[in-house]
This record gives sequence, structure tokens and C-alpha cells, in this order.
Amino acid sequence: MKTRITEMFGIEHPIIQGGMHYVGFAEMAAAVSSAGGLGIITGLTQPTAEDLRKEIARCHEMTDKPFGVNLTFLPTLTPPDYPAYIDAIIDGGIKVVETAGRNPQEHLPKLKEAGCKIIHKCTSVRHSLKAESIGCDAVSVDGFECGGHPGEDDIPNMILLPRAAEELKIPFVSSGGMADARSLVASLAMGAEGMNMGTRFIATKEAPVHENVKKAIVAASELDTRLVMRPLRNTERVLTNEAVERLLEKERELGANLKFEDIIEEVAGVYPRIMKEGDMDAGAWSCGMVAGLIHDIPTCKELIDRIMSEAEEIINRRLSGILAA
Ligand SMILES: Cc1cc2nc3c(=O)[nH]c(=O)nc-3n(C[C@H](O)[C@H](O)[C@H](O)COP(=O)(O)O)c2cc1C
Repeated sequence: MKTRITEMFGIEHPIIQGGMHYVGFAEMAAAVSSAGGLGIITGLTQPTAEDLRKEIARCHEMTDKPFGVNLTFLPTLTPPDYPAYIDAIIDGGIKVVETAGRNPQEHLPKLKEAGCKIIHKCTSVRHSLKAESIGCDAVSVDGFECGGHPGEDDIPNMILLPRAAEELKIPFVSSGGMADARSLVASLAMGAEGMNMGTRFIATKEAPVHENVKKAIVAASELDTRLVMRPLRNTERVLTNEAVERLLEKERELGANLKFEDIIEEVAGVYPRIMKEGDMDAGAWSCGMVAGLIHDIPTCKELIDRIMSEAEEIINRRLSGILAA
């Protein structure tokens, strides 16, 4: 399959693995890229820029295919040393950077000068248009279904993707709720040039997380995610567990008076305990509604090959058959 996205990123299949905190290590990115998709290392999971340098080098040893790095611009008072992370990305020969969170404009000149293509993750049409206007090369359009931060507009992909297609000139991929060949064909039909998956890639053999995390995703239905931190306008879609229900109880009790400090126990520093130790009640962790469509733990290659062959089947048989009938 050839789209503007496969051409732009030099990949075989129009499938991207979105940056994921404590999941996007070299093992994850290399497995997706080796299978013909675009794997992405999560920059800020590495505690320092020096660690990111080493992680990029490790990934180069595992695959000779292109892979990217995610840089998430967080709304914090003491930001990480972004310029140093960007140097690590450039020196590591990375040519695709997935940016997310705040407007990445101030960091674009350096990245673009080094020949990096920028795909910015956006949860709205207006943010996508902004990304286009500041020189991003592509957009990952992240619908309300998504695992992680869906923004505050709550527009699902059935509306958001065709709206993006109406407005954008640069190519975009669908993101949020994508799991299989049906997702890919539907995304293409709505104007996307590929799809980005998060949650689906955690339930793969190579995902470097505890087995409990993979099993929790397979066991979950589409009803099992919750939106937390909505009162703080930092909404996150997470899988429900004891900590999440406790957090939501605090949100109900405190209402508009809720402060980050009130829920720090449920959200701060919980990822290593969940992803590494498999302590599934340690706190809130991002997970999409798409968990309801995830029923197995294949290798990344099995998953991507299955998506591509079933997509062909849907287009050539099911859809063509309907037309011919
Ligand atoms: C466990 C987890 C951690 C994530 N961490 C990040 C992150 O650090 N930065 C980021 O830009 N997106 C992050 N995301 C969002 C994904 O890159 C992707 O946009 C999202 O998972 C798409 O929705 P889906 O889960 O329905 O496929 C994370 C998602 C998950 C599930």
C-alpha cells in the first residue's frame, strides 16, 4: 500500500506506533519498524537526553528500518531540557519526530534543518490547522476514543477524520480507536493516509511491559476506560482500576476545588510500577476504548501482516463485491 505517509516516512505499511510512556522503548519501536510500520521511541521516558542517545543507538542495533522519536511538550513549570533531547534525536540520525502536547513551533527550525519530518498529534481540527501553518509535515488526528489525552472537545473519529480531510492540505493519519484492518480501511475512506495505534501495540509479544498489562488489555471491554483529570482540563483516558475509582471519587467530592496535589498518589510516578512490575492497581495508566477490540497478543509482524492482508480482502472482496452486486 502506498500513501503520502508511506512515501514521506519511507515505510512499507501506513501503520505507526504512537509514542507511549514506559512502553516506547527500543524493543517496541524496532519490532514495529522491522515489521514494515513506523516504530516510535518515547523521548521523555528516558530520564535524560544522554539516556535517549543510548536508547536510539540500541534501536539502531535492533533494526535497519527507519524509526521515530516522540517528544511530548508537557504543561509543567520545570520543563525537561528539550534542546538537549532534540540534539540527541538529530545526532541519532532520526528523520521522523512525533510531537505532542503543546505547540512545538519554537523547536521546529532546528529539527527541520536537520531533515526531520514532523508529525504533530492533534485532537482538534483547529490544532491540526495550526500545526500545518507552523510547518509540520503531517498530523496524527487523535479522536475522543484514544488512550491518553483526548483534549477537551470530545469529538470522535467518525466526525473528526472527515473534518480534518475537509480542512487539511498536509497528510494525516487516524489515531485513537484503531486496531485492525477495518480501522485502516475506514481511516483511508475518511481521508487519512494511514493509522496510528497505541493501545493495540501494547498487547503484542515484543511490547516491553509486564504480562499483566497485556492481559488486562485483552480482558478489558470497550466499557472499561474512564476519563480522569477532567476538572483540571488535563483529561486522560485510562483503564479503570482501584486507584482510578478512588481518584474519580475525589473528583466528585472536591468538584471545582480539585487540585493536582489531591490526586498525586494516583497519577504521579505510577508508570514504572504498572508497566515494569505489573502492579495493575498502582495508579492511572492510559488505555483506549479500543481495548474492546483487542483479543490476542500477536507479534508486531503478525499483527501488521494480518492488518494488511485483511485490508486488501475488505477492499478487493467485500467493498468491490458490494459495488459489483
Ligand atoms: C500507555 C500509553 C502511554 C501513552 N503515552 C504517550 C506519551 O507519552 N506521549 C504521547 O504523545 N502520547 C502518548 N500516548 C498516546 C498514544 O501515542 C496514541 O496517540 C494513542 O494511544 C492512540 O489511541 P489508541 O490507544 O486508541 O490507539 C500514550 C498511550 C498509551 C496507551
